[in-house]
Amino acid sequence: MESSWLETRWARPLYLVIVFFLTLGLLQVVKLYMRRQQLLRDLRAFSGPPPHWLTGNQKLFGSGHLEKLDEVVEKYPCAFPAWIGPFEVFFYIYDPDYAKTLLSRTDPKSKYFHKFLVPLLEEGLLSLNGSKWAQHRRLVTPAFNLNILKSHVNVIAQSVNIMLGKWEKTCGTQETVVEVFKDINLMSLDTLMKCTFSQETNCQINSTHNRFIEGLTECLEIILKCMYSFFYHYDIFFKFSPESRRLQKWTNIIHQYTGQVIQEKRKSLKDEKEQGETEKKCQDFLDILLSAQAKNGNGFSDNDLYSEVNTFMIAGVDTIGGTLSWLLYHLAQNPEHQKRCREEIRGILGDGSSITWDQLGEMSYTTMCIKESLRLCPTATAISRELSKPITFPDGRSLPAGMTVVLSIWGLHRNPNVWENPKVFDPLRFSQENYSKRHSHSYLPFSGGLRNCVGQHFAMTELKVAVALILLRFELTPDPTRPLILISKILLKPKNGLHLYLKKIS
Ligand code: HEM
Ligand SMILES: *[C@@H]1O[C@H](CO)[C@@H](O)[C@H](O)[C@H]1NC(C)=O
Ligand SMILES: *[C@@H]1O[C@H](CO)[C@@H](O)[C@H](O)[C@H]1NC(C)=O
Ligand SMILES: *[C@@H]1O[C@H](CO)[C@@H](O)[C@H](O)[C@H]1NC(C)=O
Repeated sequence: MESSWLETRWARPLYLVIVFFLTLGLLQVVKLYMRRQQLLRDLRAFSGPPPHWLTGNQKLFGSGHLEKLDEVVEKYPCAFPAWIGPFEVFFYIYDPDYAKTLLSRTDPKSKYFHKFLVPLLEEGLLSLNGSKWAQHRRLVTPAFNLNILKSHVNVIAQSVNIMLGKWEKTCGTQETVVEVFKDINLMSLDTLMKCTFSQETNCQINSTHNRFIEGLTECLEIILKCMYSFFYHYDIFFKFSPESRRLQKWTNIIHQYTGQVIQEKRKSLKDEKEQGETEKKCQDFLDILLSAQAKNGNGFSDNDLYSEVNTFMIAGVDTIGGTLSWLLYHLAQNPEHQKRCREEIRGILGDGSSITWDQLGEMSYTTMCIKESLRLCPTATAISRELSKPITFPDGRSLPAGMTVVLSIWGLHRNPNVWENPKVFDPLRFSQENYSKRHSHSYLPFSGGLRNCVGQHFAMTELKVAVALILLRFELTPDPTRPLILISKILLKPKNGLHLYLKKIS
């Protein structure tokens, strides 16, 4: 006679296992429920756009369209909680006093944002915290001292001229529509390779280097998707997802590229030594890191070196490329400002056959235009921290430790409580007189405080050289059939490229 399965000798253990997992599941549900209740209590003082019960405020961010954020900033002063699913919150701030409070502290990078970024950036300046960050920052800072920056001006000019040569070929004597975003990013890669690694890649002409740029774009896209989709925050869903595999693939391509950069540098240093060239003309970033490694021994490992090179390649190419692109777009849209910049630059540079550091300092109107463009379109749209201890903002409201706080630079720069007519391009906002009246934390394109951008002076140098040489050679007009659509993929990106009419100035 057959006995029912309940009576077999497996029944009892099986029953226990089921009860065990049910209890475990139930405990998890209770834990999540309590977490949600706790978050709701912590955030009582702040209102924001109503979240969907399951996906939270994903609609606001998932697509990367930032106009929706503009609406929220107008409606909710200072800050709002953005729900990522039912159990997680990113606390958005965009008020100068709030920003000042956050940036005067030393909270670590948030794990929710950096979880997906760390495989790409590894343990470099952007992702490190605490004493290791301080050590790396000390080592890296000399690579951007004044003398090194000055020596970059001519190198940058060379790279820009290669790009202009390409455009002249495309345009001939006709006014022609050119997609400039790709060329600008390649130019930015070229300058970074020359200035920080002393490498001649010829990447503006030789297309094998496009893989690096393509890889970067792909990675940022995947990372953004994961960041704002709550179930990817659970490792079990992420690890087995197609996104995780694609991210791995592209990350490998990028890391291979940076690995090559270091190998070639080591080889050329060795060659120089063998030929007895001990006196170097000018140290670059990689020289400084390598000699720091030689001095510090175990304090700065090979892995640290790779991480920093990766971080600089990733932080230094797209950021400048994007910023220069939006600047050209704004100048095309505002011909009166374009004309004024060109006149200023002609007065200083003549025909532009040479350009020096001191001349860059004289371009006051052009600099105001660069700053205004970075206000309207801050290429790094947000930064994030995880509170290591409770925070109290100047208006008395506070948040507990553990909260993820996102400083929306985009929101701050377009906050109508801070800027009059925030959507209008008006370089005079940055005149000495106007600017000195403003809150110290109302304008933060390079963030602020101890963890501000180490590359900011290099970036400003490159932007000035590039815009000056471009305006001397070309007149820019917008293509009304293809307006610029910006979306935030961690960095700002153009949805369909950037198309401008270029007309050669004879
Ligand atoms: C217009 C161009 C650029 C913009 C808008 C920009 C913006 C920023 C911002 C907002 C941060 C703060 C990030 C955070 O706290 O999470 C940052 C940090 C950083 N940037 Fe830039 N950046 C630019 C160009 C560059 C360049 C050219 C380099 C390198 C060559 C660079 C290297 C870095 C590094 C290494 C950090 C981390 C600093 C630290 O945490 O100590 N950036 N940047
Ligand atoms: C920095 O801190 C965050 C949050 O504590 C953590 O998730 C992340 O792993 C840390 N980064 C590094 C490189 O240790
Ligand atoms: C392009 O660059 C690659 C890698 O640096 C090199 O092997 C190749 O010969 C170059 N091609 C041309 C046409 O210069
Ligand atoms: C200050 O800004 C306003 C509005 O942007 C502008 O009209 C005015 O000319 C600026 N003042 C100076 C001294 O540039």
